[in-house]
Amino acid sequence: MKNEILEAAKQNVERKGFLDIDLDPEMDLFAAIERLKKEKNAVVLAHYYQEPDIQDVADYIGDSLGLAQQAEKTQADMIVFAGVHFMAETAKILNPSKKVVIPDFKAGCSLSDSCPPPLFKKFKEQHPDHIVISYINCSAGIKALSDVICTSSNAKFIVESFPKDQKIIFAPDRNLGAYINKVTGRDMVLWNGACMVHEIFSLEKITKLKVRHPQAKLLAHPECEEPVLRIADYIGSTTGLLKYSQTDSAKEYIVATETGILHQMMKASPDKTFIPAPPNNNCACNDCPHMKLNTLEKLYLCMEYGSPEILMDEELRLAAKKPIDRMLEISKQAGL
Ligand code: 13P
Ligand code: SF4
Repeated sequence: MKNEILEAAKQNVERKGFLDIDLDPEMDLFAAIERLKKEKNAVVLAHYYQEPDIQDVADYIGDSLGLAQQAEKTQADMIVFAGVHFMAETAKILNPSKKVVIPDFKAGCSLSDSCPPPLFKKFKEQHPDHIVISYINCSAGIKALSDVICTSSNAKFIVESFPKDQKIIFAPDRNLGAYINKVTGRDMVLWNGACMVHEIFSLEKITKLKVRHPQAKLLAHPECEEPVLRIADYIGSTTGLLKYSQTDSAKEYIVATETGILHQMMKASPDKTFIPAPPNNNCACNDCPHMKLNTLEKLYLCMEYGSPEILMDEELRLAAKKPIDRMLEISKQAGL
């Protein structure tokens, strides 16, 4: 590709979020991505919410904790992060010398956006005797204001690693925070944020679905609202939900989280039926619009041309790294 055309395409990344370059429709993207992995010593990390093609080409598929752990230990020169911005940013925080690329720079997160650092700083100042535990779904700016990070799979352990009388602010997800308050008996102060995908499930429609499928078990992510969690048979991170569906004896499941996870559930248990929990409207709102901005084409392009790339201010990176390191250390001690 001519240098000027590539330069123009790279300039467009800022506006569009991805390299908008026409590809030969006949091109075998799977083979091209495998070739690039070897040529560039690249590793492709994908979250369970990515589209099936991306999951199939990934070297590692996981939940937020698993992805952070993989990012920490990888020997690759290039980390291709098929997920949303805060996840790729976490990989960069842990690996400043590696090139971290993301298929679409605009793959954000409504939950992360619900907690802007300047507002959170003021909130924190109103609770001077509290420590801050932040869910990994937040910006580097919020991480830098936190004492420790958690994910949905280690939140309970992280909270319980502090004495019972320790005052805690939990940000940014009020649903996960309320759930952890319930299971740990704590009274953490919650930032009022939420995920647009997990708040969309309709209790009424799930209840009706349960009547039609009396044997089906409800699997729910803790980002769901309390009424949905109350009737769930199992609550856990995406990895937790997947593992449960593999080891449990039921044959039918209603799945209250983003639909991407169904790909691995169906692959692991082809004899079982997985029904996406219905949203409270008629659209496919339990597809995360941010996660689904990434496509196989964009994945190929970001690997081939090394753009969009995650770059970070060093002072911010170091401040955000501390609470992530603390999370990884506590998780290791807990055997997670
Ligand atoms: P986990 O990856 O921890 O299951 O969280 C899901 C999620 O919402 C990621 O954005
Ligand atoms: Fe953010 Fe929700 Fe999408 Fe996860 S599913 S990336 S929390 S908006």
